[in-house]
Amino acid sequence: MAGDTVKSSNPPAWLTAGLEHVWLPYAQMKTIAPPLAVARTQGCRIVLADGRYLIDGIASWWTACHGYNHPHIREAVERQLAAMPHVMFGGLVHEGALTLARRLAALLPGDLTRVFFSESGSVAVEVALKMALQYWFNRGAGRRTRFLAFNGGYHGDTTGAMAVSDPQGMHALFAPLLPQHIVVDLPRSDEDFADLDRLLAAKAETMAGIVVEPLVQGAGGMIFHEAPVLRRLRALADKYDLLLIFDEIFTGFGRTSTLFACEQAEVVPDIITLSKALSGGTLPLAATVATRAVFDAFWADDPGKALMHGPTFMANALACAAANASLDLFAREPRLKQVAAIAAQLTQGLEPCRGLAHVKDVRVKGAIGVVEMERIDDLNGLRARFVEEGVFIRPFGNVIYLTPSFTIAPEELKTLTEAVVKVVRSLGG
Ligand SMILES: Cc1ncc(COP(=O)(O)O)c(C=O)c1O
Repeated sequence: MAGDTVKSSNPPAWLTAGLEHVWLPYAQMKTIAPPLAVARTQGCRIVLADGRYLIDGIASWWTACHGYNHPHIREAVERQLAAMPHVMFGGLVHEGALTLARRLAALLPGDLTRVFFSESGSVAVEVALKMALQYWFNRGAGRRTRFLAFNGGYHGDTTGAMAVSDPQGMHALFAPLLPQHIVVDLPRSDEDFADLDRLLAAKAETMAGIVVEPLVQGAGGMIFHEAPVLRRLRALADKYDLLLIFDEIFTGFGRTSTLFACEQAEVVPDIITLSKALSGGTLPLAATVATRAVFDAFWADDPGKALMHGPTFMANALACAAANASLDLFAREPRLKQVAAIAAQLTQGLEPCRGLAHVKDVRVKGAIGVVEMERIDDLNGLRARFVEEGVFIRPFGNVIYLTPSFTIAPEELKTLTEAVVKVVRSLGG
């Protein structure tokens, strides 16, 4: 049940006055259910302005991997705030960013060693695409302009990112207006790979690279695939001289049980994108990391071969301080063990949903638990049902999922899985 602190039934003045002026994400503003007013967060709890609290099943769009308000991150950000909240990254550098770049390069596999910072996942993807296109321009192969991407994929809401996301997905309206790439079903079988091989044989000379979310297509439906798929994509990329781009904005930093999903496939992409849990979920930060070979294509006396990109807030000092503190926590606390324990508890806790007539599938990978429904008719109603159970869970499409913080206590996770089971059962009619 929702929390036990003092409850107030009057909405705060800032809510009623401000709602008239804000435009909320992914929502028909006319029919949207009133959003929940949040007063503060603590650990795995969201405390509402009316005094109730909710156990958080989503970790704020998969960012808050250490729970909210972790003291180590808070102290690092406070220290940084006193010294320097931000300084432009053009012509100036600072310790936090350079230390973070060095640490990321050490943690990532292979020679993914050049880190370009930005401030959101979508922008990190834009930078990755731009890097890949210019890689070919700089090497005199400017015909290579198209990407292979996959149905079910999601890479962000900006133009380039939309163009490599599922064309039938939430951005379908824009599909005819966007650069035309090649989008196919993610190959899984020998036959699929043989088809893809034939496609690439015909088209690779006009293609720059392959873009994929390794192991889990997140916002496209929490669809899983296995590590060998990534190995075979790597082999095809090598065969046809394509850059392989892994978007680990969701999967990075432990979510699928290894620090990076690509480790499970023992595959090194040419470019990797990171964000979300990079800063421990406290401040906006993203990174596009390239291998030495990609970087070398930009290394020249010719200024025309430089990467012309530079977001105003790139490598923000507060965000870098948070990210360095987050990496400290990954180094000294047993995060991957916690993910393994969460995976086991999710598997057991969601099992009662399997086999229910209106449930299509139940699946778990790392700290991602999914109950895929045959369909969901009333998303707003379903979200409200979860709030009544004292949990924050945000189903989308036909998917109810849990992506908790890695620090969630077993009893809190139990509250989440029990709420899912109870609500899913009640949907059976
Ligand atoms: C795999 C992936 N790529 C890119 C993005 C876009 O990130 P942002 O919302 O920070 O722009 C997301 C966001 O959910 C994502 O899951």
